[in-house]
Amino acid sequence: MAWTRRNFLLTAGLGTAAGTLAQSNAVSQPTAQHKNLNNWREVRAHFNLDPKYIHMAGLLLASHPAPVQSAIDQHRDGLDQNPTHYLYDHRQDLVAEVRNNAADYLGVQSNDLALTDSTTMGTALVINGLSIRPDQEMLTTTYDYYSTHTSLKYKASRTGATVKEIPLYRDIQTVSEDEMVETLVKGIGPKTRLVTATWVHSSTGLKVPIAKMSEQLKQVNQNRSEEDQVLFFVDGVHGLGVEDDALTDLGCDFFVAGTHKWMFAPRGSGFIWGKPETQNAVTPTIPTFTGGAGWGSWMTPGGFKSFEHQWAMAQAFGFHQQMGKKRVTQRLHSLSRQLKIGLSKMKHVKLYTPIDDNLSAAIICFDVEGLMPKAVVAKLRTHNIIASTTPYDVSYARLTPGVYNTPDEIDRVLKHIRDLA
Ligand SMILES: Cc1ncc(COP(=O)(O)O)c(C=O)c1O
Repeated sequence: MAWTRRNFLLTAGLGTAAGTLAQSNAVSQPTAQHKNLNNWREVRAHFNLDPKYIHMAGLLLASHPAPVQSAIDQHRDGLDQNPTHYLYDHRQDLVAEVRNNAADYLGVQSNDLALTDSTTMGTALVINGLSIRPDQEMLTTTYDYYSTHTSLKYKASRTGATVKEIPLYRDIQTVSEDEMVETLVKGIGPKTRLVTATWVHSSTGLKVPIAKMSEQLKQVNQNRSEEDQVLFFVDGVHGLGVEDDALTDLGCDFFVAGTHKWMFAPRGSGFIWGKPETQNAVTPTIPTFTGGAGWGSWMTPGGFKSFEHQWAMAQAFGFHQQMGKKRVTQRLHSLSRQLKIGLSKMKHVKLYTPIDDNLSAAIICFDVEGLMPKAVVAKLRTHNIIASTTPYDVSYARLTPGVYNTPDEIDRVLKHIRDLA
């Protein structure tokens, strides 16, 4: 079914509410002018991070930079002073601003973007809403994230479709882009309807060649009918805000990410992007309250929510644009390379994340001989360095440089790891 405003009003039965929500007045924009975001020291000054620590676990949850925090504060005050008028007067414009800023940053059309609360919510909505027959199969890889695996399991139990899981590579020490692409394509059979991938694995820091996989899937799909097309779903949360690819260049069909990690958007925010050619293979699960045309509107879950957080997503995309996508990518790769090369020279350290920029982003996983990963994190903490462990069956110590870190901080981290010998 094509998603039009008319069938939204009919199916959702929300004619009155939607009409009301469609009223709009301009809100005074809380977008502060950020000065000097082309200077990394100034970038750091926009974060309220405790200066006592070296923060190297930013992949978990964002600290809100100043423009995001002040937008949250402004919307919260507006809602507290007059919830009804603030909502009625500003909601439509604020949601449009979020989707437009996100679309500019991502290099896509705003109508193809749905706003969610997290990567997990986006993953569940896409997989749950997928049109699939009981005789079809969903192909996943061993290192995809828990939320993807669990959503596939739920979908299989509801539809009768099956899940096939394959390892994407033999050994992280020898993995190559070609090996991952070939393995994935070999895993596809005549019944495959969905392929899932995780752009950057939080378990090892490995970056998966999404664009190359998409190219191969194009070939696979050449002679398939619409209902048998292999659709490509990507959890992109640890590539977004690190890599500078436009989503259209990645070539996947569905891309989901939380924006409360590398993007520095408010905690509890994220999005789904659906490629225009294939997006109608996924239909909504949660009724939307977002008036307006396009698949992205229908896919945006309704219900009243912590609006001040959703609306302040706009400032996070603006903040990244002002830092410059390419500059952020170069900075994060440079800090990560410095860390990986330093670790790779230590005899008592085993580095799992590939050094190659094509095979890694800004997550770095390693072991220290004779120490459990949790003990490594605990020892670093005594030096005010914040690291994390990977929460998987085989666990590693993990460091993730952010735009607020400096080369000097990386050197200090390396010194303390060297001292663990
Ligand atoms: C690959 C991956 N996807 C999804 C998530 C969960 O993200 P969210 O909290 O946005 O659902 C994580 C956790 O950090 C993750 O590592």
